[in-house]
Amino acid sequence: MLLELKNLSKAYHRSEGPLPILTEANLSLAANEFASIQGPSGCGKSTILLISGGLLKPDEGDVLIDGKDPYKLGSSESTSLRAAKVGFVFQQFYLIPYLTVIDNIMAPILAVGQNRALATERARKAMARFKLTERSNHLPSELSAGECQRTALARALLNQPSLLLADEPTGNLDPDNAGIVLDAMTEFADSGGAVLLVTHDESAAERAGRRFRIENGHLSESGG
Ligand SMILES: Nc1ncnc2c1ncn2[C@@H]1O[C@H](COP(=O)(O)OP(=O)(O)OP(=O)(O)O)[C@@H](O)[C@H]1O
Ligand SMILES: [Mg+2]
Repeated sequence: MLLELKNLSKAYHRSEGPLPILTEANLSLAANEFASIQGPSGCGKSTILLISGGLLKPDEGDVLIDGKDPYKLGSSESTSLRAAKVGFVFQQFYLIPYLTVIDNIMAPILAVGQNRALATERARKAMARFKLTERSNHLPSELSAGECQRTALARALLNQPSLLLADEPTGNLDPDNAGIVLDAMTEFADSGGAVLLVTHDESAAERAGRRFRIENGHLSESGG
């Protein structure tokens, strides 16, 4: 399995007391699987993605990324596991504001010691695929929201991860560009990866072979 969530529970702890978000959530994703998660705003979709990506520790339960629990590793091993295995498209993009599009796309793989010439070649291909070539030297503040979204996806895929976690990656896109993004995610799953897509967009969710919902803290699978 590329991702296993076992009996996960999570509350946000605030001074007023705990705010329970997820209760005993279970999910397993194998290679070649494309899953979507839907549910109302505030139900915990971004929370479950952060937990799945090794970025937010659950209160209870286990997370296995390709068999390893990021929360049971030391911080440098956990960082290496994430860098090697996980591509993350954040709902707020989190592009680095002082780096151009191409440098944002390459930043994570240069950080893990990838050769610059190879990184540049891959980044150029990714920019062509996501129609970013003409914006290669723009800063994030000089991009549209949809261009930021495509830059974030190109960055997430550049190190050829096994697991792609994408939070509303088509939220700012017109149908043509949304199609490019969804095709890229489908191809990623078909070539041996696993995709977990959070979306409010029904037509995007329909691309997934497995469909989940979160309601009142409970994650359930509704059939593909
Ligand atoms: N760090 C935090 N501390 C306290 N509460 C939080 C924190 N982060 C999120 N929440 C609350 O937890 C709930 C779930 O948040 P989450 O971001 O997972 O929702 P979501 O399903 O992704 O919503 P949306 O569809 O609007 O993106 C929300 O009600 C939010 O207000
Ligand atoms: Mg969210």
